[in-house]
Amino acid sequence: MADLDDLREGADFGLGIASSSQTFHVKGAANLPWGMKDRLSRIFNPKTGKSVMLAFDHGFIMGPTSGLERIDLHIVPLIEYADCIMCTRGILQSSVPANVNKPICLRSDAGTSILTELNDNVLIDIEDAIRLNVSAMAVMLSIGDSAYEAKTVANLYKAVDLGSRYNIPVMGVTAVGKQMARDARYFGLASRLCAENGANIVKTYYCEGFEKVAAACPVPVVIAGGKKLPEKEALELCYNAINDGAAGVDMGRNVFQSDAPAAMIQAVHAVVHDGLTPDQGHELFLDLSK
Ligand code: 5RP
Repeated sequence: MADLDDLREGADFGLGIASSSQTFHVKGAANLPWGMKDRLSRIFNPKTGKSVMLAFDHGFIMGPTSGLERIDLHIVPLIEYADCIMCTRGILQSSVPANVNKPICLRSDAGTSILTELNDNVLIDIEDAIRLNVSAMAVMLSIGDSAYEAKTVANLYKAVDLGSRYNIPVMGVTAVGKQMARDARYFGLASRLCAENGANIVKTYYCEGFEKVAAACPVPVVIAGGKKLPEKEALELCYNAINDGAAGVDMGRNVFQSDAPAAMIQAVHAVVHDGLTPDQGHELFLDLSK
């Protein structure tokens, strides 16, 4: 075990200074092979370097939660406004038309449900990811969970080993648990661990001090939306995250549980890609909701 004496918290994050290896529009990807870059470029818009990912993988632990009862009725009409979709293979194959022509970030680990202990996940077969022509594989990492930390770290690095063989990028998804802190120190640690283990994208949560989380992560960080907020607050969350260094959002409930989901995802898109302020984004949301 490493000597943990005198473990010092990082302080010099070079905030505001761009990463010196930034010659490609996706952070940390300049040295990757062509296939990886091509897939990452499908997810992150080459003009803005940002992405609005629509997450609707919640059913794999929660079942038909609010907004996801009917993927065909409630989610498929939103896909045209997303830069990328994140879902499980079961939903992709059963409910997403194969001609939507959007990059797919496939939920590539699976395990227990909300009825039991979470995080006891295994990886799906890489060949299924290849067959489904996905642009990235999402794998959850449960840092600080004494029962499943090692198993989920192993899932992530195995996914990276397999993804590297076929040039499929991996997104590390940092879990939150009841016993885990939700601050920059925790998310900074969890995000960095994802990147250190080879993740090409990290999905985490916005928090106070997020600029340090993003600065210390050598690959793009996208934020989850978390529980449903009033639309203006959710747009503020997106705006603040982008201003503090996020490369986009991977949002679910704040889109599909909105009263006007299509208006909401378009407003999120405008904040992320066009720099609309939360007020401007909210005006757009109200206009599009009419
Ligand atoms: C869970 C996930 C979810 O997709 C994620 O939480 C995004 O959804 P939301 O914006 O509803 O939080 O990755 O592991």
